Amino acid sequence: MKKLFILTGIVTLILMISCNRTNETNAVMLDKGWKFKTGDDPAWATPAFDDASWATIDPKKIWEDQGYNGYNGFAWYRYKTLIPNSLKDQTSISDSLKILLGKIDDCDQVFLNGELIGVNGRTIYSQSPSSQDFTREQGKWYLERRYILAANDPRIHWDQENLIAVRSYDQGGAGGMFSKPFEISMTGLSDRLKIDLTSSPFAISGDSLVTKNFSIVNLTGKEQLQGELVVEALHCNNGIRFFSACSRVDLAPHLKIDKSVSFSEDIASPAMFKVTFTESNTRKSITAKAEIPYILTPKPPLTPRINSAKVFGVRPWSPFLFKVAATGQPPLKYKAADLPEGLTLNPENGLITGSLKKKGEYIVKLTVENQQGYADRDLKIIVGDIISLTPPMGWNSWNCWGLSVSDKKVRQSANAMKSTGLIDHGWTYINIDDGWEDTHDKNGNILTNAKFPNMPALCSYVHSLGLKIGIYSSPGPKTCGGYEGSYGFEAKDAMNYASWGIDYLKYDWCSYGNIAPNPTPEQLKKPYKEMKHALRKANRDIHYSLCQYGMGDVWSWGAEVDGNSWRTTGDIEDTWESLSTIGFSQGKCSPWSAPGRWNDPDMLTVGWVGWGPALHYTRLTPSEQYTHISLWSLLAAPLLIGCDLEQLDAFTLNLLTNDEVLAINQDPMGKQAMQIRTSDDYEIWARDLEDGSKAIGLFNKTEKPLNVPVEMTDVQLEGKWLLRDVWTQCDLGKVRGHFEMKVLPHGVRLVILRQNQ
Ligand code: GLA
Repeated sequence: MKKLFILTGIVTLILMISCNRTNETNAVMLDKGWKFKTGDDPAWATPAFDDASWATIDPKKIWEDQGYNGYNGFAWYRYKTLIPNSLKDQTSISDSLKILLGKIDDCDQVFLNGELIGVNGRTIYSQSPSSQDFTREQGKWYLERRYILAANDPRIHWDQENLIAVRSYDQGGAGGMFSKPFEISMTGLSDRLKIDLTSSPFAISGDSLVTKNFSIVNLTGKEQLQGELVVEALHCNNGIRFFSACSRVDLAPHLKIDKSVSFSEDIASPAMFKVTFTESNTRKSITAKAEIPYILTPKPPLTPRINSAKVFGVRPWSPFLFKVAATGQPPLKYKAADLPEGLTLNPENGLITGSLKKKGEYIVKLTVENQQGYADRDLKIIVGDIISLTPPMGWNSWNCWGLSVSDKKVRQSANAMKSTGLIDHGWTYINIDDGWEDTHDKNGNILTNAKFPNMPALCSYVHSLGLKIGIYSSPGPKTCGGYEGSYGFEAKDAMNYASWGIDYLKYDWCSYGNIAPNPTPEQLKKPYKEMKHALRKANRDIHYSLCQYGMGDVWSWGAEVDGNSWRTTGDIEDTWESLSTIGFSQGKCSPWSAPGRWNDPDMLTVGWVGWGPALHYTRLTPSEQYTHISLWSLLAAPLLIGCDLEQLDAFTLNLLTNDEVLAINQDPMGKQAMQIRTSDDYEIWARDLEDGSKAIGLFNKTEKPLNVPVEMTDVQLEGKWLLRDVWTQCDLGKVRGHFEMKVLPHGVRLVILRQNQ
């Protein structure tokens, strides 16, 4: 295989040498045997306090997963450990001690032997948070807890028992210590030098050339750091190294060197990129690794293929807008037989518009033709009470632009939805999240702020592209971002949305928490019922998306307030902790999911995200992103892309355009997957599909490749079944009784089992 290597920056020499090195491993592990108690008492910080009666807890998992479901507020963790002098022996510099405590949701104070050594996250309130604090001030749950003390700090008791006490406060959702690592060590090379692989994503050009830019930073203010840098790429399947290069680097204090490497590889095959720096004097080394994106979805054929949902719900008299999504070599010609009276299809762009007056069901025969051939498919139209009969698919501004969203960005996103071809795979909604609102005028009409000069014009522009448009508000006086909410103006707001042409409303609890601080079940429903009535009076089908983070088990009553979808969790982030905690906890809501009534585990965090205005490339690995899309499809979750659509890279676009994966999400039966097996290492989720087949996700939760076994009796399947890999769209043969599949770290194998006829 041809290998191309380019290193730029201050590279003194390129040499192929073998670098012998030792990693720094001398550490006291703190990952087992913590004591835990809910509540708050300053005496719990002191070594003298007797915690023998306290529960034990695993610091790697949030307390909800360990018997404290639903607990919010203060809780303490305590851990006693020897800190041996020998820690200093093997380190390259030994002047500071480092205590790593994973992550803590939402915030914490840490005490060593009764003395405060660090505060992380927002201010911890000495008493219960006042109602004002409830207005969703975010914690710092996503930050690594890293506390560094000088080796001669008197708070450290060398060669004696030490007490670490953590006072944590959780405002809602997940709570307490989680993630990793939990350890004490001396600071080392990794505290002095950083290999940063995250500043830009891998670039893929053509079918095989991969380019990666990265940087090396000397974090110290005084030291010159010299050493060897080895760059490698290895196949994940067999560990074989297919690319390697070594160079010398010389880093002045605070110097950052940018580097760029290019090599060829088979982009369909998973591989790992590894950069190792070995310091010349000490022979200590540090390594940074990143999974290289691998592209699984085959290119759609030139012949036409219809990809839009097989069923569509509309209310009588509401404006009808349905785009027949299809791929194939342009130009495509669209046709529909048996269209009910009141609807017309535009043969050039596949848009069906009009309105239907009577309740009932119609089967329309769609055909799409081009020079290469044709495709056909039935579309069932159900004119009734319930809309969104398949989960909404689209884009939302929040995970990328946050409050910096503007008319211009929304138009650009809509244009990109069309020009990238996402629209041809069924992606439909362009949703404006928080940040568009001004005040209500004297007549009670909501005004838009300067970033949105003309909302009706924006809506009709988005519609003209064959897309739909959504908006955001809160039942409280203020939104989560501090903008004007709908409190007291519900009816007027709904009328305004409908008159502008809005198709989707995300209605976010936020400051309603000040109106109902400790809401009863009825109080939780009240504001949502109010907006339900207002929306039903508008002569328009507006998808009603409840957002209140799962309070009061919203999945059990969301349908009662006419929600078409409801958020089941707090806000997602682009990390494995967030993705896996949210995704794998959705089993409890499965039974309530149905066509038009979807559980919503929050939006997608792939591509360039950042909660605006500055964006970064998702911190999820490629395998984690496959897990994200596979799991959300199995969960029949709304699929709302949260990234900048104008910067879609080859990997992300490929991830979002696998029609077989999306068809699982859009299956007309609308049955959400159930958790079939779960262990510390893996999860198996399965979903019944309308045609009698089963979609199964095999998820690896570990950081090593894993063989995941499936017992077919677990999914009630007897006899022989045909196994199809959905991502690669390849048949894998027949299986009976039991099968196993190798799954990459944090990755997935998504398969369909079809009856063997
Ligand atoms: C909450 C929601 C987010 C987003 C913001 C907007 O945090 O959960 O999805 O809508 O508010 O302020």
